[in-house]
Amino acid sequence: MNLYGRDLLKLLDYSKEEICYLLSLAKEFKKKKQNKELHPYLKGKNVVLLFEKDSTRTRCAFEVGAKDLGMGTTYLGPTGSQMGKKESIKDTARVLARMYDGIEYRGFSQDIVEELAENSSVPVWNGLTDEFHPTQMLADLMTIEENFGHLEGLNFTYMGDARNNVGNSLMVACAKMGLNFTCCAPKDLFPKEGLVKTCREIATKNNCTITLTDNVKEGVKNANIIYTDVWVSMGEKEEIWEKRIKELKPYQVNQEAINLANKDVIFLHCLPSFHDTKTKIGKEMFDKFGVKEMEVTDEVFESNCSKVMDQAENRLHTIKAVMFASLNDTKEKM
Ligand code: CP
Ligand code: NVA
Repeated sequence: MNLYGRDLLKLLDYSKEEICYLLSLAKEFKKKKQNKELHPYLKGKNVVLLFEKDSTRTRCAFEVGAKDLGMGTTYLGPTGSQMGKKESIKDTARVLARMYDGIEYRGFSQDIVEELAENSSVPVWNGLTDEFHPTQMLADLMTIEENFGHLEGLNFTYMGDARNNVGNSLMVACAKMGLNFTCCAPKDLFPKEGLVKTCREIATKNNCTITLTDNVKEGVKNANIIYTDVWVSMGEKEEIWEKRIKELKPYQVNQEAINLANKDVIFLHCLPSFHDTKTKIGKEMFDKFGVKEMEVTDEVFESNCSKVMDQAENRLHTIKAVMFASLNDTKEKM
C-alpha cells in the first residue's frame, strides 16, 4: 500500500483497502505511544495547520502527532495570516507548498480545501469543512474496531443533524467499510439525496445498507453503535438554535434510546458535546430554552457504554497515521 503524496480531502476518495491500511498504521502508532517507544520517522519535515474555525482535538492531534513524528508545526488561526483577505487560496497554497511538507486545513466550504489541494504540490489534509470531516472518521472506525473486533455487518445509527459534516462523513465511512448505516433524524435534516444515492451504490457493493428514518424506535432497534453530534455546527447562525432544539429533542440520545438498542451498544460522539450546562453555550441554551442537556444526556455520556474519550484519543493515532502515510519518503519501516 502506498499513499505517499496523497491528499485526504474526503473519504469518498479512498478505497476500503486504503482505509484499512491507515487504521492498521494507527494501531501500530497507538502501541508505540503506549509503550513509550519514540517514532520520529519524519525528522526534518514541517507541516502548517490552517484553522479558520476553532478546534481542540484536531489541532492537538496534528500538533502532537507531528511532534511525535519529529516534525515542526506552524499554527495559523482565523486571524493573523493573509489567507483569504489579501491573498487568494491559490497563491496561499503555492507559497505554503514551498515551505512545508504538508498542509492541514479546517474551515468552511469543501471547495476551499479542494482548491488548496489543486494548487499545492504537497499533501493537503481536510481537518473539517462544512461538508466533510474525514480524519474524524478514521478515529471513529478505529474505536468501533477496538470494541467489536471487526467493522463489517455492524449496525450503526446516527441521530440528530444528519446533513452536517459528521453525518455526511459517517454515511460514507459506513458504506465503504460495510456497516449498515441508519440515519435517524427529522426528514428535513436527512443528508442530501445525491450523497445518499452515491453511498447506496457503494453500500450495495459492500453488502451493507443505508436507511433513512424519522422514527426513533425503528432507528435505534438493533443498533451496535449510536452516534450523535451537536445540533448546531460551527459557522451556522445563532438564531437556528431554537428551531433545532425543538426539532431535534426527540432525537436526543438518552437512556431510553440506549435501552431500545442492542445489548452490546456503544455510544460515540465526535465532541465537543452539550451534555450538561457547564459550557457557555450550554448555559445560555438552558437560560433561554430550559434544556439542560442537548444531543446526549449526561447519564449516557458518562455511562459505561460511552467510548467518547477513547474516540478522542484515537484522533491522535489516526491523524499521525495519515501524516505518516502521505509524507514518508524513506525506507523507514514502522
Ligand atoms: N471532533 C473534533 O473535530 O473536535 P475539535 O473541533 O475539538 O477539533
Ligand atoms: N458538526 C460539528 C463537528 C465538530 C467537530 C461542527 O462542524 O461544528
